[in-house]
Amino acid sequence: MPPMKKDTLLVHSGRHPEDNFGIVNPPVYHASTVTFPTVEKYEAKPANPFDGVQYGRTGTPTTFALEEAVTALYGGYKTIATSSGAAAIAITMAAFLKSGDHALVIDNVYGPTRTRVSDTLLARGGVDVTYFNPAQPIGNLLRPETKVVFIESPGSLTFEMIDVAAIAAEAHAVGALVLMDNTWATPLLFRPFEHDVDIVIEAATKYIGGHADVMLGVVTVQTPEHHLAVKGTANAMGNCPGPDDCYLGLRGLRTLSVRLERHQHNALRVAEWLNGRVEIDRVLYPALPGDPGHDLWKRDFSGASGLFGLILKPYSHSAVAAMLDGMELFAMGASWGGYESLMIPSKPGEIRTVSDWSPAGPCLRLHIGLEDPDDLIADLEKGLTRLNSTA
Ligand SMILES: Cc1ncc(COP(=O)(O)O)c(C=O)c1O
Repeated sequence: MPPMKKDTLLVHSGRHPEDNFGIVNPPVYHASTVTFPTVEKYEAKPANPFDGVQYGRTGTPTTFALEEAVTALYGGYKTIATSSGAAAIAITMAAFLKSGDHALVIDNVYGPTRTRVSDTLLARGGVDVTYFNPAQPIGNLLRPETKVVFIESPGSLTFEMIDVAAIAAEAHAVGALVLMDNTWATPLLFRPFEHDVDIVIEAATKYIGGHADVMLGVVTVQTPEHHLAVKGTANAMGNCPGPDDCYLGLRGLRTLSVRLERHQHNALRVAEWLNGRVEIDRVLYPALPGDPGHDLWKRDFSGASGLFGLILKPYSHSAVAAMLDGMELFAMGASWGGYESLMIPSKPGEIRTVSDWSPAGPCLRLHIGLEDPDDLIADLEKGLTRLNSTA
């Protein structure tokens, strides 16, 4: 068969009905103990120590089905499913960094990647972490002991874009691995391995799950060595995504393409409408012509998801609260990627250390769901009226 296109992969990957009475979806295996019929089979050592069904924690056919599908979509060697996106980040960092190493992390990275993983877990383990300005090359910040460069593009609060392949070329020149959090784009909108990323991480909690009801992460690697490193660390840390969550991840994946198309359609409508409003200083969405990251986005991405930011003109905290508290369709919640619209106040400048983020006014982050965009715009219009009428 010729290589399949992404929509076909979404439908067919990770499914083996012939192993399961012809039933379309893989079964949900709830398992801890796995039994073996003979001492020989019990003591057998597979070439890859994590191959096959061994014990609940190392995975069941439900876990493997999700991992197989995500691997096919990213075009990698193997995927390791984790119990959340944060777990995927912590495990992958821990797999490739040890005491005395240096890690370079993008300054606009997802907050907990900085505060909980880099500044806490890695620092405690003797890893020196420094940050880099997304607007600048990294050559002068790399050292012989730099083992990891961690990136996210666009960042999930400020939506700044970077030239991923250019950063990867600099990192590889000193032998560092490039780890990318690709949660915003998913494998459908950005193909990290084609831009020389080594290992891709995604919070499957977001668009893969797609229904705001699952915590899940995935790490896709390109080599057996990297698989052993990540899977070994995941196992050592007791990582074990639940079978129902793996099933839900896989079920979400089947409709990822059609959902993302609608997220982009709706988000563009809403972002364009907001762009023309006097209350808004800037819409932060690389899919909008005029966004500083638009050219890079157009060059490297095949679409945009439904998450973007806003910088308001200077308004008081109580005016912003009046706007958000009264929203009818936009709920206030920190996650995203589900079918529903969300809006939160955000403070991207608070934890950056090497690059300036001083917006003209308060920042908001919007996730545009699958509602009718006319209704979302009507809700936002009323919200902006509250913003204007509160001191
Ligand atoms: C960009 C990004 N990466 C990773 C994560 C972490 O994922 P999880 O919430 O599944 O731990 C999040 C969660 O909000 C995120 O926004």
